[in-house]
Amino acid sequence: MKKNLFFLAVILLVPFTLYILSLETVVPIPPDENHGGLTKELQCFDCHGKNKEFPRKKEHPPKDLCFQCHKIEEE
Ligand code: HEC
Ligand code: HEC
Repeated sequence: MKKNLFFLAVILLVPFTLYILSLETVVPIPPDENHGGLTKELQCFDCHGKNKEFPRKKEHPPKDLCFQCHKIEEE
């Protein structure tokens, strides 16, 4: 019985976490020549990685799955 409650809590936690994340105001990926045609998150690090030209701020969320939060802006 305890196990079932635990799984129920986990199942409820997932949409709740996603909801909280969706409340954060994320800056969209600007549709300029730097960002056109980017499809792989690894490419982001060429410019936004540590010690690169345009690193992300220290307080940037630590996750590295860029497209989970940053969407390509439609023109
Ligand atoms: C060729 C270098 C380059 C690459 C590759 C690149 N960026 Fe950028 N990015 C920039 C520059 C330069 C700026 C700041 C100037 C601007 O706003 O256009 C910027 C700005 C941004 C901004 C907006 C920042 C703001 O304050 O408005 C986001 C979000 C962003 N990049 C995300 C990404 C993501 C996600 C990727 C990978 C898909 C990526 N970038 C790949 C150069 C790059
Ligand atoms: C968990 C969600 C999330 C993920 C994943 C994420 N970001 Fe962000 N990003 C944000 C938020 C929220 C902001 C706005 C922060 C602010 O206003 O200070 C932001 C801001 C930025 C900015 C603007 C400048 C700065 O440092 O605040 C750049 C550039 C950026 N992200 C690039 C990236 C790249 C590249 C990746 C993948 C390696 C990535 N982000 C992954 C949420 C995310």
